[in-house]
Amino acid sequence: MGRATLANIKGKGFSELAKEVKTISEDTNKVSNTNKNRNTTSSDSSGKKNRRRTRKMMMPTAVVVSPVQRLYDTCKDVFALSGTGIVPNRDKIEQLRAVLDKILPEDVGVTPKMPFFKRQVTQPAPTITYLHILQCEKFSMGIFCLPPSGVIPLHNHPGMTVFSKLLFGTVHIKSYDWVVDVPPNASVVVNPSQTVQHPEVRLAEVKVDSYFTAPCNTSILYPADGGNMHCFTAVTACAVLDVLGPPYSDPDGRHCTYYLDYPFTKFSVDGVTVPEEEKDKHAWLQERENLEDLVVDGAPYTGPEIVEN
Ligand SMILES: [Fe+2]
Repeated sequence: MGRATLANIKGKGFSELAKEVKTISEDTNKVSNTNKNRNTTSSDSSGKKNRRRTRKMMMPTAVVVSPVQRLYDTCKDVFALSGTGIVPNRDKIEQLRAVLDKILPEDVGVTPKMPFFKRQVTQPAPTITYLHILQCEKFSMGIFCLPPSGVIPLHNHPGMTVFSKLLFGTVHIKSYDWVVDVPPNASVVVNPSQTVQHPEVRLAEVKVDSYFTAPCNTSILYPADGGNMHCFTAVTACAVLDVLGPPYSDPDGRHCTYYLDYPFTKFSVDGVTVPEEEKDKHAWLQERENLEDLVVDGAPYTGPEIVEN
């Protein structure tokens, strides 16, 4: 798979992988049906003794559900009513958080020894690898693999609820939410005074600005709070399991937008004041098009199989 933007990498570029998972699922069902037929035939042609043996063989056995299968099953339930701006209720959120909190790297086939996590000296920035697990209409699951100093630039998740589980390593997360009471057409002046081409900036409030080291609890962001715009910077090699509900979708208005962030003191906007002590907790975000510092490679998910149902 070639290189692509973060938005593309999370989207349709991986549809073939999704099909592969489905094919495995169908094959599994076929095997299951074959076994069922075989038992029926045996039972029909045997006497009492064999029937007793057959009954014994058909005694229900405990079904072991893998952690990643449990994660898929839980997502399917939690995001059953998923749509733009629809947040699952608190019980569902906690249910999924509890499952993710227990997920270990080996549960999704990830180890720090994988080549994606090696220190890189490439320019302009280390390559990020995205392991696509699956995507359906309601949610998507995947793993971001960051080598040391790898950066996923500041980006948004429009109308989405996102669970991020750090599997191993140390990462710095900075996140923002929009401040909603800024006049939409207020004039903008750059400080110190400069002639600028009316930069379109929007005020945001810092929500998270912290280092996280695994094992740690799952981070959750929502359409309008919890730090909907976030940036990840790898301190050490690290892996982040992301669950998005609903997934990015351009036709549905859920486009991934990237931003630059500027200190509050860089711009003056008519009608916008922030108390002195709050200024360092606010920033101006500006949409960016140039993503030369972001290289995301796709790679197949090689962890335990998930049977989609
Ligand atoms: Fe994200």
